[in-house]
Amino acid sequence: MSDNSHNILIIGFGTVGQGFFELFNSKKKELGLQNVRISEIVDMRYGHIKSPGEDLLKNLPSQKTPPVDVLKVIRESFCDIVCEFTWVDFKTGGPGYDHIKTALSSGKHVITTNKGPITTHYDELNELAIKNRAELRFKGTVMAGTPSFNILKLLPGAKVLRFRGILNGTTNYILNEMSIGKSFEAALRDAQQKGYAEADPTNDVDGFDSAAKCAIISKILGWPHDFNGIEIKGIREVTAQEARNGTKLLVYGDPEKAYVKPVKLPDDDLLSSIRGVTNAIEFEIDTLGKIYSVGPGAGRIETAQAAMTDLLDIIS
Ligand code: HSE
Repeated sequence: MSDNSHNILIIGFGTVGQGFFELFNSKKKELGLQNVRISEIVDMRYGHIKSPGEDLLKNLPSQKTPPVDVLKVIRESFCDIVCEFTWVDFKTGGPGYDHIKTALSSGKHVITTNKGPITTHYDELNELAIKNRAELRFKGTVMAGTPSFNILKLLPGAKVLRFRGILNGTTNYILNEMSIGKSFEAALRDAQQKGYAEADPTNDVDGFDSAAKCAIISKILGWPHDFNGIEIKGIREVTAQEARNGTKLLVYGDPEKAYVKPVKLPDDDLLSSIRGVTNAIEFEIDTLGKIYSVGPGAGRIETAQAAMTDLLDIIS
């Protein structure tokens, strides 16, 4: 748009949606985004909110509202950017898949932090975006706002030979706690109470969340690894002794293979020093050798930062 004005439709107003709303409003002046507005919000619980005021988070409706035809809202909305923040479904892509497909088909740009649709339908959604001259951005699917695959944009022409990472905070936290004497069950309960774990923690402990991130990075690099083709082993069988000896849930990818499994890392491996819910990624690149990014991989504002990064990328 020539006047650089944009309107945003948020779908899903849970932790990430509310975090993005708050972050956007607190940063928009300093980022020069006075012509960018969050104009509509759709949520299962809060219904269809139009022209929300900046004080919305203090005044959220307490009553559950009648169901909304979300696809109709997306099709008919005047907004040009759709932020999709609904829940993850690694099997079908979940409702997020339909939301993103509908938005891209209507020529709207999409920002999502939802790993489900990107993991299950990357090729189709990417083609749809290109066909409709719309942008599809999903930085928040891997390491929240901490730079991950997006740092590769800073390295034109560089070729990634392989990557390794600790991309799931919950399992890293559990292994850490096990290494200092806690049982697997107690550490998992802790991770759930602290809000690190996915709604269904099997996605974390059985390695599916890590595998989804591995598949997303592989797709971006043009490698052939789909979610279903990745070798996946979670942390249920890791013993306390192995946790003490430096076993981590490692994500690995190169053009030929990709896996997620517990691996004992040597003490001098930088990834072995990653503690608690922190995530880390190592890219091995033809021109630079190994480069690293380390930081939070989940959280309300941390994930909202990823959506802000994508937003600025689209509108600038
Ligand atoms: N449950 C995930 C984790 C959150 O523990 O890393 C982000 O995908």
